Amino acid sequence: MKKRKYAARFHLMPPQGWLNDPNGLCQLNGVHHIFFQYAPEDPRGGQKYWGHFETRDFIRYTFTGLFLKPDCPEDRDGVYSGSAYVEDGEMYLYYTGNVKHRGDYDYIYSGREGNTLLVTSRDGRQASQKECLLKNQDYPENLSNHVRDPKVFKEGETYYMVLGARTRSDEGCVMLCASKDKRNWHFDHFIRKADFGYMWECPDLFELSGRQYLSLSPQGLAATEFKYQNVYQSGYFTTTRDLLSSGDGLGEFYEWDYGFDFYAPQTYEDERGRRLLIGWMGVPDVPYDHDPTIGEGWQHMLTLPRELIVDERTGRVLQTPARELLSLRKEQIYNGSSSEFLEPVSLPEGYELLLEGFADTDFELLFDGGFRVSYDAQSRVCSFLFLDESLGYGRRERKIRLLSQERVCAMRIFVDTCCMEFYINGGAYVFTTKSFREPEKKHSLSVKGKMEHMEVFELGCFDVSQE
Ligand code: FRU
Repeated sequence: MKKRKYAARFHLMPPQGWLNDPNGLCQLNGVHHIFFQYAPEDPRGGQKYWGHFETRDFIRYTFTGLFLKPDCPEDRDGVYSGSAYVEDGEMYLYYTGNVKHRGDYDYIYSGREGNTLLVTSRDGRQASQKECLLKNQDYPENLSNHVRDPKVFKEGETYYMVLGARTRSDEGCVMLCASKDKRNWHFDHFIRKADFGYMWECPDLFELSGRQYLSLSPQGLAATEFKYQNVYQSGYFTTTRDLLSSGDGLGEFYEWDYGFDFYAPQTYEDERGRRLLIGWMGVPDVPYDHDPTIGEGWQHMLTLPRELIVDERTGRVLQTPARELLSLRKEQIYNGSSSEFLEPVSLPEGYELLLEGFADTDFELLFDGGFRVSYDAQSRVCSFLFLDESLGYGRRERKIRLLSQERVCAMRIFVDTCCMEFYINGGAYVFTTKSFREPEKKHSLSVKGKMEHMEVFELGCFDVSQE
């Protein structure tokens, strides 16, 4: 294996090759299963498999290898994304079998199959025989060939499946199916929102504190100065009616993460009853496609697992890194006000930064001499700007405008070898980006503007073993 200078310390990355969406997230008998879209042969992507990590504590992981391979007629061009439903000690893993017919096709309206398949497993290593449950002819006629990413859950006596879809008239929608036995599914209704992109990927319908949310990765939303700045988005809708009985109860849409590198998240409820979210730290079809990790034979990571809670005041969802990650903290290397950071201070390879006690004035954080986070108190705009191409590799600027009445009052920042996650105001706004400081150089930080309270912890590494 080539030497990997950029290897992440506490983010999951592919052993080699390419990683995208988290799949099949669940916890069974204490073990969290984290499957993912995996193209092991090529860091620029290729034929998709499912890889598998397991962990009990989000610190020590085992990579157990390939779980699903594209090896049957219904998934021969890729085992695409899907989810886990756990029942009676068993994972029911539903996924999309991608098939591309050879010939002159557009692969949107013709030439492609998005089959829905099922395997079961007790351990994430051995899968049962594949069963094909639904084919494109079973989907409503107004849909294009793009139907994928089943997510399954149970409500009362009924199992439900949401699938992401593109209609023949290029509207994104969710196809909701129902079943009494987990194997025989029938279409129930569509969930839609007018003028909201041409394709919806990776839908996820869940309840949190008695409220229903629909998470999605929509494609085709036009960028504005403060919204939808990536090629494709991901966020969640609040709901105004029960989506299990009505298709037009979508409320406001909020982006999960405003960073350069975030897409296709999935949530699950763990055995303690927490709802956790993991996202793909990457976005398809981006113009910044020359990350230096490609030269090391790998590309992309998963985000930290994030615990979701409802902000009862606003109905929005707050994201906080799973509490297990507190045990990554080693030494506390700083505890004071920000005033000692006026000049750049050297920091370790991996660290966590807590900032609180912001005066309601402008501030600026400069990471590694070339990535600037600045806040304009009057307009409530927080901008993230790579001043230095050798850190951003094509990433440039993203901006968040806080809702009126809000201002930045707390930040929790995780800095890894080649990426960062920012949690603003208790995770009401999150920003994830890769950043490629030359690994030989030390991390550094300087701060302008005053924060009363600043703490820095050195962070340890994940322990990832391979079977
Ligand atoms: C999202 C996605 C899914 C699909 C998978 C294929 O990134 O496009 O819709 O199932 O990736 O890898």
